[in-house]
Amino acid sequence: MKNPVRYTITSALPYANGPVHIGHLAGVYIPADIYARYLRNNGKEVLFLGGSDEHGVPITLKARKEGVTPQDIVDRYHNIIKQSFKELGISFDIYSRTSNPTHHETAAAYFTKLYNEGKLVEQTSQQYYDEEAKQFLADRYITGECPHCHNEKAYGDQCEACGATLNATDLINPKSTLSGNPPVMKETKHWYLPLNEYEPWLKEWILNGHKDDWKVNVYGQCKSWIEAGLHPRAVTRDLSWGVKVPLPEAEGKVLYVWFDAPIGYISATKEWTAAQGRTDWEKWWKDPDTQLVHFIGKDNIVFHCIIFPCMLKAEGSYILPENVPANEFLNLEGDKISTSRNWAVWLHEYLQDFPGKQDTLRYMLTSIAPETKDSDFTWSDFQAKNNNELLAIFGNLVNRTIVLTHKYYGGIIPEMGPVTDLEKEVMAKVAEFPQRIGESIEKYRFREAQAELMNLARLGNKYLTETEPWKKQKEDPEYVKTILHLSLQICASLSVLCEPFLPFSAEKLQKMLNLNNKNWNDGGRTDLLKAGDKVNEAELLFVKVEDDAIAAQVKKLEDAKKANQLANAPATPAKEDITYDDFQKMDLRVVTVLEAERVPKTKKLLKLKVNTGVDTREIVSGIAEYYEPETLVGKQVLMLINLAPKEIKGVKSHGMVLMAANADGSLSLMQPAKNINAGSTVQ
Ligand code: 2FM
Ligand code: ZN
Repeated sequence: MKNPVRYTITSALPYANGPVHIGHLAGVYIPADIYARYLRNNGKEVLFLGGSDEHGVPITLKARKEGVTPQDIVDRYHNIIKQSFKELGISFDIYSRTSNPTHHETAAAYFTKLYNEGKLVEQTSQQYYDEEAKQFLADRYITGECPHCHNEKAYGDQCEACGATLNATDLINPKSTLSGNPPVMKETKHWYLPLNEYEPWLKEWILNGHKDDWKVNVYGQCKSWIEAGLHPRAVTRDLSWGVKVPLPEAEGKVLYVWFDAPIGYISATKEWTAAQGRTDWEKWWKDPDTQLVHFIGKDNIVFHCIIFPCMLKAEGSYILPENVPANEFLNLEGDKISTSRNWAVWLHEYLQDFPGKQDTLRYMLTSIAPETKDSDFTWSDFQAKNNNELLAIFGNLVNRTIVLTHKYYGGIIPEMGPVTDLEKEVMAKVAEFPQRIGESIEKYRFREAQAELMNLARLGNKYLTETEPWKKQKEDPEYVKTILHLSLQICASLSVLCEPFLPFSAEKLQKMLNLNNKNWNDGGRTDLLKAGDKVNEAELLFVKVEDDAIAAQVKKLEDAKKANQLANAPATPAKEDITYDDFQKMDLRVVTVLEAERVPKTKKLLKLKVNTGVDTREIVSGIAEYYEPETLVGKQVLMLINLAPKEIKGVKSHGMVLMAANADGSLSLMQPAKNINAGSTVQ
């Protein structure tokens, strides 16, 4: 398609079972937003869709774990995600959700149409069933021993210890997570989309048709899927949370989450048009002059390049995606981002920790976008990108230009004075930027596009540094007018061309320049500002990221790593059994601490005076790193009182205070749950 009149841009619907992190942003939402903003600025009709994916087993599992309903979970995360996207300036035309009635109707109707037209195949199969819970078990509801690494906590779809993809039937000693019982096999009926029938068409459409315009990683994945041979894929599941299968014989069944989720893009379009009192949603999905582009992460490629297109093709009246610019993954400080290990930078937390620095994150994530291979986010790089690039190059140009305009001309834009070859050359270069940046964006090379944008700022800075207006104002004031006039025009160009990447800074800069322009090609002009007009006082476009802010983030990650290590630390192996008589030999008591002080010249030791119920005595305990002495006085703790006395640092210590030792070696006192007489025995 050469010149589409409108664009339907979708961004993967994030699961509403957790907040959004930098990996999602770098891979999907920031590139999609740059693309949408760029096209809008080019005068194109754009519909940029987003929304929460609110079905699927992980959501029901999370709800079960927390003892709340799946609706509670999705309400919680949908709102966090929606709000944080808005604050980051992701310019969705609509951010919808798949629990919406419009979506349920749309997805059910889509299924019905395929069913009525005989596009689905009915098949019975044997699946795991929990007889006590009276429920078929999705793969995630089954755990057991991994046949590869023998991890005993592998899930029915995956072993998190060795990373193997599994089928529930592969597990050794499978157990239902609902009842804990071994599941039984039971017959169930489902509806399948016969992907195998679409193989010849997919070969033609993707392998021949998109060899040159789809990204290598995307094309490569499609090729291996298609060449491995496609099989019918079930589009229904035995679950209660999701879009009900609209057939009388399908009681207790819902649409497979990956069948309903991409239809969510269509439902969102209907909702968006309806909200404006219109019904013309179809032009965004059925008009061949519309270009459909899906922004996704690499784990979604098969669904957007093979399964959803087959669904669209089966329905028959929809356009197909023109491109699916999927990205690879972003790592964090050298390690894979992981929700379960809390190894992530969460967007909603970033927005709280760095108020007003949305563009810094956008810039950073675009500059390291995992476009062709996985890439890595580090906090030190984040600081450097802000301080050494945004601030030192872009911000510096704007600041120097506007400050000098105020200093020399009271903020009035000077007339262009004498023009030398240098100005001609600079103007010619500025004129090339809209096309150069635009070409990169149209090829989905957002890193490259943003780097070009910075080259424009570099050009301006170099021009200022070379011409040194601050040295020439006395001897050649007319030429200084030229310099500042042109520098202001470069700032104006930047304000237009940076909008897709740095929308907050674009707005700020345009306010400083009293400009209101979003027409992309105007970014190449050097006459956007008129001599005689006024510019406002310089405001800082970018603010320095200080070392302590970075240290706080690094500490947050270290804490997460520690907490995770502790949570997963293997339990200390059990000691050999002892007899009841052995246990009876120990005199364990509740004692009350009467006095506590540090043992001089030691770091770890406290001297305690305790009431054991039978006497008052002194003991030495190694808890000084974890408890302040004064906080212990009056506390009741557990103690072994018949441990033979021993002299420690000159104190005769008689007994041992009991403590729980954490995996990291930290100690916690054992205390009775309520106050009890000193000397009460522990049994
Ligand atoms: O991988 C995911 O996070 C999915 N929720 C993406 C769904 S994209 C679309 F099809 F809705
Ligand atoms: Zn394994």
